Amino acid sequence: TIERTFSIVKPNAVAKNLIGAIYSRFEAAGLKIVAAKMLHLTREQAEGFYAEHAERPFFGGLVDFMTSGPIILQVLEGKDAVRRHREIMGATNPENALAGTLRADYADSLTENAVHGSDSAESAAREIAYFFSEGEICPRTR
Ligand code: CMP
Repeated sequence: TIERTFSIVKPNAVAKNLIGAIYSRFEAAGLKIVAAKMLHLTREQAEGFYAEHAERPFFGGLVDFMTSGPIILQVLEGKDAVRRHREIMGATNPENALAGTLRADYADSLTENAVHGSDSAESAAREIAYFFSEGEICPRTR
């Protein structure tokens, strides 16, 4: 089934000029970019996006990091996009990420782990709607 997932190139990866390298991995895997924008998140935006983690001990540090510089947000579309994107990213903790994954190659730490991706189709729908209006998504017909 063709589905959509939500992806972030995090501030450390943008700072290291890795936007193109990361986009190349998506495209090589057959994931199509159907929406994209650059933002420097406010604390309010970051706290809202990660609200499910609000009680976790790492929340403050996560919000500090995610507001430390610009990020690139995108919607990816393709067959089994949620699962395929997670495979390309590798494990959240780069120490556990398989060789050749984005986090193995580009993460600096558990917090500064280079990329974010939705963990389910339900999360994807919520996360996409948090940052994109339907009119900002451009279905790919070829
Ligand atoms: P992400 O996929 O964006 O979802 C939540 C983020 O919190 C995660 O990637 C990491 O960047 C960050 N994080 C920091 N510490 C932890 C932790 N102990 N467990 C999970 N996520 C963490």
